[in-house]
Amino acid sequence: MSEDTMRAVTIREFGGPDVLIVEQVARPEPLPTEVLVRVHAAGINPVDWKTRAGQGMAGLQTFPAILGWDVSGVVEEVGFGVTTLAPGDEVYALPWFPRPAGAYAEFVTAPSRHFARKPASIGHIEAAALPLAALTAWQALVDTAGVQAGQRVLVHAAAGGVGHLAVQFARHLGAEVVATASESKHAWLKELGADQVIDYTRQRFEDVAGEVDVVIDLVGAHDDTDARSVSVTRRGGLVVSIPGGVSERLASVARSAGVRTSAFLVEPDAGALTTIGGLVDSGVVRVEVERVFALEQVAEAHRVGEGGRTRGKLVLDVAV
Ligand SMILES: NC(=O)c1ccc[n+]([C@@H]2O[C@H](COP(=O)([O-])OP(=O)(O)OC[C@H]3O[C@@H](n4cnc5c(N)ncnc54)[C@H](OP(=O)(O)O)[C@@H]3O)[C@@H](O)[C@H]2O)c1
Repeated sequence: MSEDTMRAVTIREFGGPDVLIVEQVARPEPLPTEVLVRVHAAGINPVDWKTRAGQGMAGLQTFPAILGWDVSGVVEEVGFGVTTLAPGDEVYALPWFPRPAGAYAEFVTAPSRHFARKPASIGHIEAAALPLAALTAWQALVDTAGVQAGQRVLVHAAAGGVGHLAVQFARHLGAEVVATASESKHAWLKELGADQVIDYTRQRFEDVAGEVDVVIDLVGAHDDTDARSVSVTRRGGLVVSIPGGVSERLASVARSAGVRTSAFLVEPDAGALTTIGGLVDSGVVRVEVERVFALEQVAEAHRVGEGGRTRGKLVLDVAV
């Protein structure tokens, strides 16, 4: 193939998984302060399929659009002014978010300081599973909620991409962790550090969770999970509502109960990725990749992800 082109997954309209097409497109070039990264693997996130379907970050796309934000790869070329990375460096990132990053492709360009060094103890597949999910968990727990040792934290959808990392980060911060997940995932979540796991399909979590200081809500308004979370949160505690912001119903229930709420949107943060990489390399945190797909299998990957039962993460292997 020509040096000017690359393989990428594009969409030319919003719709179901079949709008995803693998084709040759122009290879991007780094501007001053940017790096060109050869993508080895791209993580898949719910925002990818929401955007593909015309929701999520759809309003920021222009066609043909290349989806995807999570990248792990190798620096191929650096633009003028870049002094902290060089060709050959292994890096990972959540570049540009929420603007398009075009991660479902063989190359991406982004500001060099969006990238952190890839944790040395894991490969590109595992590293690509981390950025968006891990930054969400980290920023929600540390920056938004300021979780302290000794607090109790409830993580909804603890078995998913964000949740399984939130459980481990909360535990690392010294919190007691209560998690919701279906039963087949309980033993694994306990291994990751959950103190109490609730099968939300059999029990109402508010009947057994006890009182918590912070709720990391990764389910949202479905089944009224966000508003029901208020009843387990102490007065002055916080519900971080991650999927769709703070609904009017959540705001009103929380106001009456004296519980604080926060909307949340993850942000690129290479500094936090360096911290998270250190936790991975020291064995404190591990990332679970349930399935790996070739670029050509991207539609199947979206179908699986949209099923909503993923344990950990799904990743595209862009190098095959
Ligand atoms: N605002 C932001 O910046 C931001 C960032 C990241 C993610 N998000 C959003 O947060 C949500 C979670 O993201 P994710 O990447 O973690 O998703 P994911 O990996 O697709 O989540 C899958 C998991 O959700 C669990 N689950 C589904 N319904 C549940 C329920 N009612 N109670 C408890 N667990 C349930 C499933 O466990 P079982 O099979 O056991 O049911 C499965 O393990 C998505 O809506 C995503 O768009 C927002």
